[in-house]
Amino acid sequence: MALQVFTAVTGAPWESELVGALDRADHGVTVVRRCVDVADLLAAAATGVGQAALLSAELRRLDGDAVSRLLAAGVAVVGLVEPGDDDAAGRLRQLGVSRVLPADADAARIATALREAVTGAPATGRDVGDPRAALPALGVPEDPADRPAGRGRVVAVWGPTGAPGRTTVAVGVADEAARLGVSTLLLDADVYGGVVAQVLGLLDEAPGVAAAARQATAGTLDVARLARLAWAVSPRLRVLTGLARADRWPELRPQAVATVLDQARRLSELTVVDCAFCVEEDEELSFDTAAPRRNGATTTVLEQADTVLCVSGADPVALQRTVRALGHLREVLPDVEPVVVVNQVRRGPVPGDPEQEIAAALSRFAGTRVGGFLPADRRATDAALAAGRTLAEVAERSPLRTALRGLAAELAGVPAPARRGARRRG
Ligand SMILES: Nc1ncnc2c1ncn2[C@@H]1O[C@H](COP(=O)(O)OP(=O)(O)OP(=O)(O)O)[C@@H](O)[C@H]1O
Ligand SMILES: [Mg+2]
Repeated sequence: MALQVFTAVTGAPWESELVGALDRADHGVTVVRRCVDVADLLAAAATGVGQAALLSAELRRLDGDAVSRLLAAGVAVVGLVEPGDDDAAGRLRQLGVSRVLPADADAARIATALREAVTGAPATGRDVGDPRAALPALGVPEDPADRPAGRGRVVAVWGPTGAPGRTTVAVGVADEAARLGVSTLLLDADVYGGVVAQVLGLLDEAPGVAAAARQATAGTLDVARLARLAWAVSPRLRVLTGLARADRWPELRPQAVATVLDQARRLSELTVVDCAFCVEEDEELSFDTAAPRRNGATTTVLEQADTVLCVSGADPVALQRTVRALGHLREVLPDVEPVVVVNQVRRGPVPGDPEQEIAAALSRFAGTRVGGFLPADRRATDAALAAGRTLAEVAERSPLRTALRGLAAELAGVPAPARRGARRRG
């Protein structure tokens, strides 16, 4: 059966010629509806009669949400731009359209792209205006030789409910990595209300991640704009502050967050993301594939990250929560293998040697090895909170700072500093 396709290229001078050529020749494509605008296209997609949409970059009110809705409705998307219009191609890609062709491509090529989009064959991303071509002009930092250009690493800092210390670890790792010479972006993506700005003594009216997500949805976010939205806390540390109010979570749509991470990889060698705890999916909402999901931003970050840290507390209640959270994560994202970092380790809440006992418990109940231990160090964290500064600034020689420095070196792939950092268990 021929592929049923919607077009939304109204107004483009080449529209009727293209639609005619697609329909006429034997390309295995039938245009089932010529949509006049985005609303028309979304309504058509909801009917379930089409498998793909061909749209032009000039389509008014086209944004990331519309593309997400099409994809959620099971409609694959192919974009067309005026030949040579690399800006429009880049914009479409940001909106989540991975296949973009020049409008003068012949009908056979467009039909092939539509079919590939439906079957999910990997897009080459190089048809028109590959955004990576623009990198040197933007003065993006040099990448180390061991990873491809524009692919900074992303570390997600996640963990169960109960404030195990995600923010403390995220801020500490980002600050220490920057001090070790790695250009770093600290991104607050906690959809239950971000506190990184407050912890670092920054004004929380800063536009931050919500503005970056807005620009991503509008298709206008690039490396330079992302850099402008972030605070330059030190020469190598940038901070993109979080949602000032927890009820603004719908602003962090998964597709927008994915685009922000993409640009973050181009901006910095290392991006450290402070994530919310929850990855559960609302069962009622899961029937409505286009409804916004609060935890979609978190799952997107965990899915895209190169490394996911699961920060655990070190007492029996916290460990139990970690075991449950790891179980949930396995259900929602089976391919993600988090590295467990046990924080607030101290003698008292567990009998005997705490590291040994905790490692044994997590191995028995979660089948997980512990990647590192961070000591309880209230004196240091209180000093940092009181001053709105990092541990390196106010508690340079504290045990927690030393351990975080070691963890940061490991995550950033740079030589560990002279003093030993987070202790590893084999
Ligand atoms: N290793 C540590 N030693 C002592 N106190 C710590 C340690 N790690 C974190 N804390 C303190 O525990 C509290 C909670 O930490 P943090 O805000 O980092 O947790 P969180 O997991 O981000 O919590 P939330 O769920 O609120 O996002 C803070 O007061 C912090 O200073
Ligand atoms: Mg936090």
